[in-house]
Amino acid sequence: MQTVDRGRLESLHEFERQRFVAEHPRSKKLFERAKASLHDGVPMNWMVRWASPFPPFVETAEGASFHCVDGHDYIDFCLGDTGAMAGHGAAATIEAVERQLRRGITHMLPTEDAIWVGEELQRRFGLPYWQFTLSATDANRFALRLGRQITGRSKVVVHDYCYHGTVDETFAVLDDGGRTVARQGSIGPQVDVAATTRVVEFNDIDSLERALADRDVAVVLFEPALTNIGIVLPDEGYLDAVRELTRRTGTLLLIDETHTICAGPGGATKAWDLEPDLLVIGKTIGGGIPIATYGFTAEVADRIRASTSYEDADVGGIGGTLAGYALSLAAARATLGEVLTDDAFDRMLPLGERWSDGVQSVIRGRDVPWHVTRLGARAEYHFTPEPPRNGREQWDHSDPELEAFLHLWAMNRRILMTPFHNMALMSPSTTEADVDRHTEVFAEAVDALFP
Ligand SMILES: Cc1ncc(COP(=O)(O)O)c(C=O)c1O
Repeated sequence: MQTVDRGRLESLHEFERQRFVAEHPRSKKLFERAKASLHDGVPMNWMVRWASPFPPFVETAEGASFHCVDGHDYIDFCLGDTGAMAGHGAAATIEAVERQLRRGITHMLPTEDAIWVGEELQRRFGLPYWQFTLSATDANRFALRLGRQITGRSKVVVHDYCYHGTVDETFAVLDDGGRTVARQGSIGPQVDVAATTRVVEFNDIDSLERALADRDVAVVLFEPALTNIGIVLPDEGYLDAVRELTRRTGTLLLIDETHTICAGPGGATKAWDLEPDLLVIGKTIGGGIPIATYGFTAEVADRIRASTSYEDADVGGIGGTLAGYALSLAAARATLGEVLTDDAFDRMLPLGERWSDGVQSVIRGRDVPWHVTRLGARAEYHFTPEPPRNGREQWDHSDPELEAFLHLWAMNRRILMTPFHNMALMSPSTTEADVDRHTEVFAEAVDALFP
């Protein structure tokens, strides 16, 4: 097994940085200009974390590719980190959005599209009732509020190193002594996270049992497979145990399918026969137009009705003037009905498999101690021989410099991966040639690192 020579990595990395700068003069100029009006030169803080010295500025995007202002065409496996999973500018979504723009963008009243989308979500995820928001963050926040309201309990349980959007209760990890503490870098927490949250390791049934024992937990908020610290898959029987323990202790199970929708048209919930009390999904369903949703069972619906009053509906902490607005539902109807369809998944899942097989063959062929993990149409490689079983193990094995180098190497060969780890997502527009090009570029990087 080979180990990375850090001196070699640094000199290769420096060469790639210089190459990026030389090949993106217009992006560099725009970035310099942006610094005068945008904090750190970007419209949102996390955009400074790209592996390149500055982000490439986008001119146009179509299907599974985008064109930057420096004239380069990139294959896009980042896909707006799932917001563009349907592909950039799918024709059906654009047509529906253009039509709706002329028919009224937002008017505080429902449209028939909302019903169509509710019915389609019923078909995909098996839950009867749905509500809409503008982001998955909001959908999670509202689902947690409702969960606390109807159970009369205060605590939330999440997985170590989870990510569910900017939801205060979820910025928590376990310290070395197994205590719940604020995640490193958590910005200005509203309250001590230990007061709101208990953290458990993914795949650890005993620790979940302990966390629920006092019956003071309202909601267990989980991704069925971790995707944000890298992909970590559930052990056989883990999700059944989660369901059994939550039922036994009267705790609500909220499944966040925002990323795990890559498992299939009904996400991991459908693919693995899960039975959540509440479910959240955002990002993908509007084809890039802001929309997210939370759904729940008939029993949860009854309990909501019994414990909330319509008079307080606009000031109860669940809302948003544009939540459920007409444009977003027109986009979701077209995206779910015509773009991210069951047929599209029949093409995307084999592409995910092809991507991981390609990367795996390079890793095996060169005897490199890394591995690939895949969840349907999403896959990534990581720098340990065996897949970690939980978020902490994944975090402990991360190698930010190697990660950034491989990311930048790919960018310089016009491939964009999901930032912060080396993950790829397939869209209905992704082609086998795109996937094979990635395998080629990845093989060249490995050969450069291990000559
Ligand atoms: C699983 C999961 N849930 C929720 C969110 C939040 O989505 P948004 O940023 O659209 O609110 C994310 C974002 O990455 C996510 O990965």
